[in-house]
Formats: sequence, C-alpha cells, structure tokens
Amino acid sequence: MSERIYIFDTTLRDGEQAPGCQLNTDEKITVAQALEQLGVDVIEAGFPISSPGDFQSVVAISKAVSQPIITGLSRAVEKDIDRAAEALQYAKRPRIHTGIGTSDQHIINKFRTTREKVLERAVAAVKHAKKYVEDVEFYAEDAGRTENEWLAQVLEAVIKAGATVLNIPDTTGFCLPDEYGAKIRFLRENVKGIDKAIISAHCHNDLGLATANAIAAVQNGARQIECTINGVGERAGNTSLEEVVMAFKKRAAALPYHTHVNSTRLYPTSQLVSSLMGMHVQANKAIVGRNAFAHSSGIHQDGVIKNRENYEIIDPQEVGVGESVIVLTARSGRAALHYNLQKIGVDLTKEELEVAYEHFLQLADQLKIVQDQHLRQMVEELAAKSTI
Ligand code: KIV
Ligand code: ZN
Repeated sequence: MSERIYIFDTTLRDGEQAPGCQLNTDEKITVAQALEQLGVDVIEAGFPISSPGDFQSVVAISKAVSQPIITGLSRAVEKDIDRAAEALQYAKRPRIHTGIGTSDQHIINKFRTTREKVLERAVAAVKHAKKYVEDVEFYAEDAGRTENEWLAQVLEAVIKAGATVLNIPDTTGFCLPDEYGAKIRFLRENVKGIDKAIISAHCHNDLGLATANAIAAVQNGARQIECTINGVGERAGNTSLEEVVMAFKKRAAALPYHTHVNSTRLYPTSQLVSSLMGMHVQANKAIVGRNAFAHSSGIHQDGVIKNRENYEIIDPQEVGVGESVIVLTARSGRAALHYNLQKIGVDLTKEELEVAYEHFLQLADQLKIVQDQHLRQMVEELAAKSTI
C-alpha cells in the first residue's frame, strides 16, 4: 500500500532567503497560487516578524489561497509567534511554525545558554502558539547535528505541549542519508507520543544530499517533506520539490509513497519561480533543467530515436516539458542528423545523408550546437551546388 507524503513547500520562506531571490507581495501571491495549482499540502508563506513586507505577504497569501495549509515561521519568541498568528488570521487552514536550535553547537555558540533553558523555551513557544491555532509545527533547528537522546527529550516535551508536526531540520546539510534515516527511526522508536505527530524532513543541500536525505527520512517514518521549487534556498539550497515528487512517482515499487502533486505542473512552476526570482535553473538540474531531456551524444541519440526508454526514465510530458530534444553537436551521428532533418521536412536518401553529414560535422565543430536554421541553410547551400 502506497502511503501519502505531505509536501510542505518553503520556496517563499527558506527559498526566498537565497541571496538575490527576494520577491515582492504580488510576486509571492503569483507563486503561492501556482503552488496551490501544483497541489502542495502546505505553503510556508514567510517569516512575518522579519519585515513589514513579509508580514503583508503572509496576510495576502492567506487571503488568496484556500486549499493548502498556510504557515509562517517564528522563533521561539512570544512576539514572533504573536506576529505570525496575526499574519495568519485570514488563512482557512493556519499553522504556526515555531522552534529553536537544539544542537550543542547552537546552544553554546549561538544562544550561549543551556539545554534546560532551550527545553523550557521550546515548550513555552508551542504552548503560546497553541493559544492561537490548533496546528503547531515545531522545528528543532540543526537537528542533524543534535544528539539523538536529547533531541528525543525535546520532542517528547513539545508533543505534550501540543505540537502536531515535528520538523527535524538538517540545517547545515551535514547528514549522510543513512545517518539521517537512522535519526528519524530512532525518534520514531524512542519518543513517547510520536504517533500523535507527523515527522517532517527538512534537508539542506550543502553536500548535495538533500533529496537523498529526505527520501531516507520517509523510508524511516517521516511523512512530510519540506522542499522548494528548483531546490532554491540558503547556501546550496533545500530539497528540491520536483526531485522528491518524481522519485516517488518513478520508483513506486521501491518507494511505496505518493504525493498529491500534479507532476505536469512541475516545469511551468519551475520556470515561473526561476523568472520571478531571477535565479537560473542549472542546465543539468534533474527534472526541470534545460538538458534534463536533451540528448547530445551519437550513441544516446541513436538509442532514443529507436526507443525513448533506452535513455529516458521520465516522459517529458509527465513533468510538463513539451518533448525531449535531440541536440545536434559534433558528437551526433547520422541517425540524429536524419531525425532532425526530417523534423524540419527534409528527407534525404542514404547517399545524400552521407554528403550532408560531412558538411554537418564541419558546421558543428564551428558552431558547437547546430540549430534548425543552420540545417536549413546547409541543405539550401548543398542543393544549390547540386550536391544533394
Ligand atoms: O534549516 C532550518 O533549520 C530551517 C528552520 C528555521 C525550519 O529552515
Ligand atoms: Zn532550512
């Protein structure tokens, strides 16, 4: 039986923290509406106390979006929580997301306090948030580097205080998949009352492991993943929404989990976020990068032309990309040239193709990528010389 995984999108909070990615309220509403259409379960709309603009954005998104839960971040500080509650007052389904750093690194070097005091603040924050909303998510910042027994103690206490979701952030992207998975399993097996709450994976990508860690968390009992479109976020970013969604979709036998995300909206949403944030999607980005469905070497092109599944595990239409492309370069073979010529309406005999191929290789060495217009010009020139 496939189990439901909740998708918590934090593009508008953790994602927007990436340098140069700030959005204004209108842009945030546009993204939130696109996320609603995409089918995410939770939208983290901002960090209301951080600025008047962010507060306004959370208010506006709460009014503009009705299906997903809307949440706002707050530190374990009363005035943060009050501000988050105020910003969320129009949300149909509000959630307050509050928490505090639990690793000794943060307790000693950031808060300059003690574990006891952190525990008190965690419990007080959840109790305070509960005065406003039923749904309270607690984050244990830097849980990835927090000792498991102590983390379990904190979580047990916040569950008693009313936390409904437990966020276990690997804030610094430090964990390896087996470690992060084992942490989640440990918490599931050792925290009293854990069945009353949903465990959430929140992974950063400093070692390029955010997606692998989130999946390992699910395999060990997490049922919510916090992620962003295109994996944007602080430093190397967060778990990429499109990657986890497609991993569950494509590997259903190995990963018996599903989300309610409409995968055909992935590419349009990625493009929207990229253009509004002014943040390019790297060409080789899984699922949504420009090259994710582009085939360039002769061997691959020949294989794809014979049968797409030789080199494609995802149908591009499944993620909203029109179709995959055969990119003509000096590494391309005759099959690819023939295929692309046919696509522009030019059908050559075997002998003509041989001639055209020699010319094509010279062109490709000069141009690197040979586009349709170059092909048309080449064919016209060859025809003019009666070579083909
Ligand atoms: O990475 C992190 O720890 C966070 C929390 C504030 C939720 O983003
Ligand atoms: Zn984060």
